[in-house]
Amino acid sequence: MKAVVYTRYGSPDVLQLKEVEKPTPKDDEVLVRVYAVSMNDWDWGLLQGTPFVNRLSCGLLRPKKRILGSDIAGRIEAVGKNAKQFKPGDEVFGDLSGNWGGFAEYVCAREKALALKPASMTFEQAAAIPQAGMLAVQGLRDKGQIQQGQRVLINGAGGGVGTFAVQIARLYGANVTGVDSTGKLGMLRSMGFDHVIDYTKEDFTKSGQCYDLILDVKTNRSVFDYARALSPNGTYVTVGGYGHRILEAVLLGPWIKIISKKKMRLVLLKPNRDLAYMSELFEAGKVKPVIDGLYKLDEVPEAFRLFGAGSHKGKIVVTVGSSSGP
Ligand SMILES: NC(=O)c1ccc[n+]([C@@H]2O[C@H](COP(=O)([O-])OP(=O)(O)OC[C@H]3O[C@@H](n4cnc5c(N)ncnc54)[C@H](OP(=O)(O)O)[C@@H]3O)[C@@H](O)[C@H]2O)c1
Repeated sequence: MKAVVYTRYGSPDVLQLKEVEKPTPKDDEVLVRVYAVSMNDWDWGLLQGTPFVNRLSCGLLRPKKRILGSDIAGRIEAVGKNAKQFKPGDEVFGDLSGNWGGFAEYVCAREKALALKPASMTFEQAAAIPQAGMLAVQGLRDKGQIQQGQRVLINGAGGGVGTFAVQIARLYGANVTGVDSTGKLGMLRSMGFDHVIDYTKEDFTKSGQCYDLILDVKTNRSVFDYARALSPNGTYVTVGGYGHRILEAVLLGPWIKIISKKKMRLVLLKPNRDLAYMSELFEAGKVKPVIDGLYKLDEVPEAFRLFGAGSHKGKIVVTVGSSSGP
């Protein structure tokens, strides 16, 4: 089969499209013919071997897993003898993080990492959903406990998580502000953000505006700046960003809560848990993935370059062969 392989950490130049052996599912796994795969921050980190601490589990000098890609959509090709949930021909999607292997024509997956794909959802749309969709739902609904009509700010609004989060926040009748760079503001407005802020020109934590809920995929400011931008009883939820800033929010959050009743929370991704919920929203026409691409398997290095530069909008999706072909 064809796969995008890397054998050393580095820039997208280390990725190579190669012919490799087709994997065989273990007893509790299924083999999926991949039709689409999307790109995540974890792929970017694993490609470069950063942060360095991750190399303790992923390979100190060289990557243990040679094929990146976690968010996939495809068709079940074969099932292991103990796999009971799916049968060949089922159309599935899910987040395989930990196992990876998605930038390839075939990948093996544990059944619990997959869900049935709605027939009305394309493989490309399905591949865009797992990680970013889960982070948006779990950030706003579970950690943020979003309420009807709240003022919500999404920092890093134009990427994968933000473009799902605005659609979910709008279901709660929220008034949503999106923060991103100049070139993405037009897209944000067209997606339904009520207000947009260009972070290259304005610091939302210094504007005097307050928000009931802040969802942050960039966490690049001090916890005190975020607290200042929260309304009384407001909640700040970090999805990701700079490690020291996240640590600061976790360590100082309880003290800030005692003093001001403002809450500082961290999302710990529960992979795939809300795929059925996202499928329901999709089928009801309430959520639609924003896709950047489509790229082909041989264009994966270029897609990684765009991702690394932050110039993508929504989710970068790569198609792998044709879902209607042999
Ligand atoms: N908590 C968990 O368990 C968990 C699990 C997996 C992933 N994650 C995290 O989840 C996040 C994934 O987010 P994503 O997929 O939405 O990322 P993304 O697609 O890269 O989007 C990030 C957006 O932020 C914008 N941005 C860059 N610098 C900014 C700044 N200073 N202020 C405001 N916006 C800025 C980028 O645009 P420009 O570059 O054009 O500015 C981009 O549009 C990552 O932080 C990742 O580490 C967390």
